[in-house]
Amino acid sequence: MCGIVGYIGPRKAYPIIIEGLKRLEYRGYDSAGIALFDGKDLKVSKTKGKVADLEAQVEKEITTSGNVGIGHTRWATHGVPNDVNSHPHVSNSGNLVIIHNGIIENYESLKLELISRGYTFKSDTDTEVLVNLIEEIQKQDNLKLGKAVQVALNQVIGAYAIAVFDKNKPEEIVVARLGSPLAIGIGDNDDEFFIASDASPFLEYTKNAVYLEDEEMAIIRFHKGIKIRKIKDDSVVETFVQELQINLEQIEKGGFDHFMLKEIHEQPKAITDTYRGRLLRNEAIIKMAGVEDNMKKFLNANRIIIVACGTSWHAGLVAEYIFEDLARIPVEVEYASEFRYRNPVINEDDVVIAISQSGETADTLAAIKLARSKGAFVFGVCNVVGSSIARESDAGAYTHAGPEIGVASTKAFTTQITVLTLIALRLARAKGTISSSDFRTHLLELELIPKKVEKALESDDNIKAISKIYKDAKNFLYLGRGYNFPVALEGALKLKEISYIHAEGYPAAEMKHGPIALIDENMPIAVIATKKGHYEKVVSNIQEIKSRKGKIIGIVTEGDTQVRGLADHVIEVPETLESLSPLLTTIPLQLLSYHIAVMLDKNVDQPRNLAKSVTVE
Ligand code: F6R
Repeated sequence: MCGIVGYIGPRKAYPIIIEGLKRLEYRGYDSAGIALFDGKDLKVSKTKGKVADLEAQVEKEITTSGNVGIGHTRWATHGVPNDVNSHPHVSNSGNLVIIHNGIIENYESLKLELISRGYTFKSDTDTEVLVNLIEEIQKQDNLKLGKAVQVALNQVIGAYAIAVFDKNKPEEIVVARLGSPLAIGIGDNDDEFFIASDASPFLEYTKNAVYLEDEEMAIIRFHKGIKIRKIKDDSVVETFVQELQINLEQIEKGGFDHFMLKEIHEQPKAITDTYRGRLLRNEAIIKMAGVEDNMKKFLNANRIIIVACGTSWHAGLVAEYIFEDLARIPVEVEYASEFRYRNPVINEDDVVIAISQSGETADTLAAIKLARSKGAFVFGVCNVVGSSIARESDAGAYTHAGPEIGVASTKAFTTQITVLTLIALRLARAKGTISSSDFRTHLLELELIPKKVEKALESDDNIKAISKIYKDAKNFLYLGRGYNFPVALEGALKLKEISYIHAEGYPAAEMKHGPIALIDENMPIAVIATKKGHYEKVVSNIQEIKSRKGKIIGIVTEGDTQVRGLADHVIEVPETLESLSPLLTTIPLQLLSYHIAVMLDKNVDQPRNLAKSVTVE
């Protein structure tokens, strides 16, 4: 939700900021803006639309010289996406300029107070209120910028990652965070600093980064380094510099037309990276430090509660089947946004697993804070290393999928399922709910999955041909049973979010309780009908669809003949264990949504109204 970038140092700030904004566009792309100090004055340019629109406008509007600047790419919360509501926002005096990711919840009362003191506002945003609040505090008490920011933030309720500077003191940028991520890149000679929502904007300049924690602020001074303090009590925080493990290649398209396609094709490697060093087949063991160290908690758990949103929630639904089936532990899967607001019954004997690619989803983060406050043990399954959910959890396991840039989640989903399968298998072994031969079979099959995903990807041409036939459909249904019911939900979500075609996922048997009324000769229905897992039942459901003239796209096991005889089209996936089948059946559904969206000329990597990291509730 909004990306922020800043630079202070000896280089020209503009190219660093504009390129950085392009890398952060996955966080929001409703509008973009930049503020530069050109050596004499503050120059601001901003516009509705994407960073490319900003780039086209900037050079006509302002000089792009200067070594200090901040930039923003917005996912609108307060105020429609238009030029005026775009960031950066400048204070009434024209001295202070700010960028902000997050929401100031009490902005209306603060705004009224400022209006009563003579302030005027151009935009509808909460951010313009914040910059003027800082200015007012600075003026009233004749404070330095850092101090004024600190006092202002102590009056603010909400979430933020901000960067602000004063055009009269452009050798200093003040940043702060609460609930929204903020990384500071430190140049090799400690004489330049990069500010960003994640490290991607500065990867080619430095591998050294400081991640601010919640309720921390930093004053960044050219040539003088950074000083971090607690916003609440002003105590000094020791600067902890981390060495970044990601490289530039990982965040580039690598010859693919879209990040989504690249990430779909990365799944064999991503899944391998997920189980590497954890699945030791020769020794017939699974080693996961986060599970090992907390084995008692898991084994004594009354139940496991999984909290997540969107695609990660679908991975949680798959995990429910795996945990209950293999480890015989009762599982509940909750939308984090519902869980956190419904006074859930939860106590010290519960284990809560939070699943999140970004590790920053506001509702999931709030859900784990709630669970911890009630004494539950929280285990995080995140992709982004060092993310808020990873840090707020008692323990966890990373998915190691590598950066996922496409807004529609693909490799995050399959790697989340892989991690959760490893945990379930490890617990099943410890509890004795799986025989050693079944355990070995699972390890062996899991190791074969990357090759089988590669095989599934070979159906691309077939899927493209099917996409061409159905690209103009107004509605789609996705059906699956058991382990593949969540895959049906995920298939529908993928199609909706990138092609804007209405799609619904349903448990196949539930179809006759309503959705069957929608079926006619115009309705394409993707049915997951793999050999293992209620095959005959699904075949009966297919018969029901056929007799109502629905168009059937069967996702079937290699060599299947029965569904082939009934369906309009089939897409084959290799055979595997029922519990691992979601890792394969998901692949054709990802490709189907991708090709349809491309054929409809939609922006696959940046679908409208969405953002990769939902840091607002
Ligand atoms: C769908 C998608 C979203 C995310 C959801 C949770 O393709 O990307 O539904 O899955 O916003 O995000 P994370 O996993 O980052 O918590």
